[in-house]
Amino acid sequence: MATYKLQINGRSYEVDVEPDTPLLWVLRDNLGLVGTKYGCGIAQCGACTVHVNGNAMRSCVYPVSAAASAKITTIEGLSEAGDHPVQLAWDEVDVAQCGYCQAGQIMTATALLNKNQKPTAEEIDNAMNGNICRCGTYHRIREAVALAAT
Ligand code: FES
Repeated sequence: MATYKLQINGRSYEVDVEPDTPLLWVLRDNLGLVGTKYGCGIAQCGACTVHVNGNAMRSCVYPVSAAASAKITTIEGLSEAGDHPVQLAWDEVDVAQCGYCQAGQIMTATALLNKNQKPTAEEIDNAMNGNICRCGTYHRIREAVALAAT
């Protein structure tokens, strides 16, 4: 066990966990930030995506020991009222079907748009490519990312 100080959504937290504990489980189990989802646990689906220093990161394989000096943002930190422009675009397009993967999709999309405010269709597809949606909402995800970029 070790103590880690974490900066998440602009707040400071302290947790006592094993160094190799994935950030996903610290967020969910230690801190109650359950908006970040578990899908595969092996960096293959994107459900667990958060931002680490502004970059989309799969928290299921990101050890808490690496997160200690980083600025972390989860879906809960995008906006207080759920009205981040990407979330509004998601609502407008009515993207979600079952909804399970959507926090990860939105975190990947916001990481893209924070770096590239006017992505091409190809750039959107490339950025979103690794986020799996079992309901197959890909066409609406594309549409919502493009809408948020306008
Ligand atoms: Fe992390 Fe699937 S749960 S990529």
